[in-house]
Amino acid sequence: MHIHKYEKWWLTLGATSLVVFLIIVGISAFHYGSHPPSAKVYIDPERVDEIAPFNNPGVHKVEGKDWDYEVVFVASAFYYNPPEIEVPFGSTVKFIATTKDVVHGFQVAGTNINMMLEPGYVSEYVTTVDKAGEFLILCNEYCGVGHSTMTSMLKVVE
Ligand code: CUA
Repeated sequence: MHIHKYEKWWLTLGATSLVVFLIIVGISAFHYGSHPPSAKVYIDPERVDEIAPFNNPGVHKVEGKDWDYEVVFVASAFYYNPPEIEVPFGSTVKFIATTKDVVHGFQVAGTNINMMLEPGYVSEYVTTVDKAGEFLILCNEYCGVGHSTMTSMLKVVE
């Protein structure tokens, strides 16, 4: 079978970009451990307030784990509990969040913390806070009339 020269170039380009893409995805998944933030831990959205750790939202110092603090957030239309948190600069923090009603976002502006909160699921993200200052936490999933006012505040203090 004869394949035209340009056809070969395109086939090579297509196959090469696929391989490069798979290598990038493979490295980010297996070497850097990136994965979709949700769908690993389940929770009954009707009973969020009774179930640990969501029965006690806020910042908790932990010992013997790969992170120094656990920050627990409960989202519901149209606010976050707690409305403000404070963590020390340089600490490693695990954010643990869920929603009691509809889908909400959890984005910390100016950082790469960005999770989708889905009813029935627990979203988690571990990061080291390496910038001091105040960071707005905002909802980036449209959730209703109060969507644009749904915020919290992360304060990273020296
Ligand atoms: Cu919550 Cu938009």
